Amino acid sequence: MDKSDLIRIDKNHLWHPYTQASEYREIDPLVVVRAHGHCLYDADGKAYYDTISSWWCNLLGHNVDRINGAIGRQLDSLDHTLFAGITHQPAVELVSQLLEVVPEQLSRAFFSDNGSTAVEVAIKMSLQYWMMKGLEGRKRFVFLEYGYHGDTIGAMSVSGVSQFNSAFRGLFFDSISIPSPALDLEASISALRDVARRRDICAVIIEPSLQGAGGMLFYRPEFMDELESLRQRYGFHVIVDEIAVGFGRLGRWFAHTESSLRPDFMCMSKSITNGVLPLAITLTTEEVFQEFVGPYSERTFFHGHTFTANPIACSAANALVSILKETDYIEGVKGIEETISELSNARLQDYGFLSNIRNRGVIWRAELEGATREDMFALYKIGLEHGILLRPLGNVIYMFLPINITGEELEDIFDKLNGALRVFSNI
Ligand SMILES: Cc1ncc(COP(=O)(O)O)c(C=O)c1O
Repeated sequence: MDKSDLIRIDKNHLWHPYTQASEYREIDPLVVVRAHGHCLYDADGKAYYDTISSWWCNLLGHNVDRINGAIGRQLDSLDHTLFAGITHQPAVELVSQLLEVVPEQLSRAFFSDNGSTAVEVAIKMSLQYWMMKGLEGRKRFVFLEYGYHGDTIGAMSVSGVSQFNSAFRGLFFDSISIPSPALDLEASISALRDVARRRDICAVIIEPSLQGAGGMLFYRPEFMDELESLRQRYGFHVIVDEIAVGFGRLGRWFAHTESSLRPDFMCMSKSITNGVLPLAITLTTEEVFQEFVGPYSERTFFHGHTFTANPIACSAANALVSILKETDYIEGVKGIEETISELSNARLQDYGFLSNIRNRGVIWRAELEGATREDMFALYKIGLEHGILLRPLGNVIYMFLPINITGEELEDIFDKLNGALRVFSNI
């Protein structure tokens, strides 16, 4: 199929996520034909730095030989099987590998296939746990303003209300929002203390250290320390959503470990397969699991997705986790953070329209004060002309980079960013 046919059929028949078709009347979507390393390539061979790791997934860039090889080998033996009452080597091996790097209390793994489902699983497990304990009253979830946990109804019900989900508000179950620790740490901690005393709290859900979709908002570990002391005192569950930051983006296997927090549930997805295949895991404690052991009709966790623990996806994840264990990529994130700080300070000072420029780990962000959607879309298009993917979040531009990005590549990326901003500032 040639490029014009592809675009014509796409425009007439496909419906893209988080995409407004009217913005693509005049321009065409980017047609990506291949990916390699940290770049996507179009049909003309032009390279675009995948600075957002294709929605925060490709931890080590694209087409990693060892991961592709593991997938190929797995295809030769077992492609797929249901996972109810059946097990297989790739899933067991993955959990065994993960047990060496996750917090020790999280020793039970429940598989699903995307971030939102990993969150749904945690929500449902927590609720059913309290019900089976005879504490039906514990049914309220607490979440952070600007939090984001996915697009399913349950995940949206525990996410901050935003442009993304406000149309569906009528379907949300009743949860409690507290201020973001990234915007006002004191107010957030004080609201958390107030709410923690309530007898009806089932679980508090957080994105640790960084609120991603809410605008790449970093916050300090004190909030999680406080959450831990309240968890111990009042006994509610804590769910940490490591779907975006897990596996090293902030320089640790799991971001919440920068604090004393000992969560009851941890959700993982995205980078777990290096973004190659869909897979998610909800980890929980043996204590939670044991509550579900008993008569079939009363204690079974009736939840499962068709592609639960798909062996090919598990084999990709096994390769990814092995690479992380054998290399010092995660330790190297500190150095990348320093380089990003230097480049950001040195090259982006001239742009008065950029504010709240921040970075941590491999993540960089800046706000464009007063920018409209049209401005942000214009900047996105200019970015593409400069070979860099600057998909905005509201009025925030950001980079969510792979953890094996090199200093040379960072220089090149900041040159391209600089070039794009210069053109943008002149229109
Ligand atoms: C922190 C967090 N949780 C959950 C999700 C939802 O994951 P998915 O898009 O795979 O459903 C995302 C996606 O961006 C996320 O960043």
